[in-house]
Amino acid sequence: MSTGLPMVVRDPALPARVRVHEVGARDGLQNESGLVPVDVKAEFVTRLAAAGLTTIEATSFVHPKWVPQLADAEELFPRVRDALPGVRLPVLVPNERGLDRALALGAREVAVFASATESFARANLNRTVDESLAMFAPVVSRAVEHGLTVRGYLSMCFGDPWEGAVPVEQVVAVCRRLADMGCDELSLGDTIGVATPGHVSALLTALEQAGIGSGRLAVHFHDTYGQALANTLAALRHGVSTVDASAGGLGGCPYAKSATGNLATEDLVWMLHGLGIETGIDLGLLTATSAWMAGHLGRPSPSRTVRALAGAAASHKES
Ligand code: HMG
Ligand code: MG
Repeated sequence: MSTGLPMVVRDPALPARVRVHEVGARDGLQNESGLVPVDVKAEFVTRLAAAGLTTIEATSFVHPKWVPQLADAEELFPRVRDALPGVRLPVLVPNERGLDRALALGAREVAVFASATESFARANLNRTVDESLAMFAPVVSRAVEHGLTVRGYLSMCFGDPWEGAVPVEQVVAVCRRLADMGCDELSLGDTIGVATPGHVSALLTALEQAGIGSGRLAVHFHDTYGQALANTLAALRHGVSTVDASAGGLGGCPYAKSATGNLATEDLVWMLHGLGIETGIDLGLLTATSAWMAGHLGRPSPSRTVRALAGAAASHKES
């Protein structure tokens, strides 16, 4: 049996609505070994918006030598900005140079991206944790002055490929500094996908005790060990209602080799809709978009929901 929709059984302990922060065009495509043409990227973002995504991370204004996959940001951003006036289109900016590039193109939302560990700060930003926070401080204050919404990502919140398990207090301390800097929202990154639900719960409890409540938090899970949905459910139980995900499960991080794709947006939406949680997303349109993108990338989507729904659609056509 497949109607293309999950059966709905509500859980009153969970939020009534979740905002999905779609990262496929940025976190997903930054990790592709081949360069994706800008026309395909623009169509991807436009189709994601048509599927009901209201926050779509479009690209990054980072050093083009560090992430050549997103070197076309100046070409892509104006196209999607003009085509999708009602859609939130955040972009990553590591420093003032990145912020200048984003401001010049009229970006309204930016994200800085810190690390809870020294090893990843060095690998991803060529800086220590302190140096990278010093680099972000003027970015955040200038962005706020310009009336922009600012997200602060924090990577390696659970485990780090070089340092192993990351102590909760270490994560809370860097979150505190990002919050004090003026970030509107903090996104907790499980960059290499090693978190499990008890660990998520422990971190959210510690953040709450440190005065950083779930209303200001988003979660960003990669699915290396198949824990991303379970971890998301643990976060929803703590009242988190902003969840990052990547259409079709695209992704990884070029500077953390053990990172695989993000939680697939379709897998997330199937669970949320099954729980009666509103997202505003049309799962059929979203799945068709990921299947189309998988065709461009030349390999099937790792998302279980994309595979199940695409398989059901194919057998429906045959019968
Ligand atoms: P650096 O080499 O230390 O740069 O890189 P620098 O500050 O020494 O500057 C060197 C040159 O780069 C200068 O040019 C700058 O102008 C130029 P020169 O004067 O020599 O001609 N430059 C730039 N050019 C264009 N745009 C810029 C820019 N900045 C400097 N923004 C830097 C430092 C931060 C720039 C570099 O390390 C970088 O770009 N890193 C980005 C890495 C990245 O994008 N990683 C992936 C995103 S993070 C992620 O995926 C994790 C996340 O998903 C959450 C999770 O899963 O955990 C968010
Ligand atoms: Mg990520």
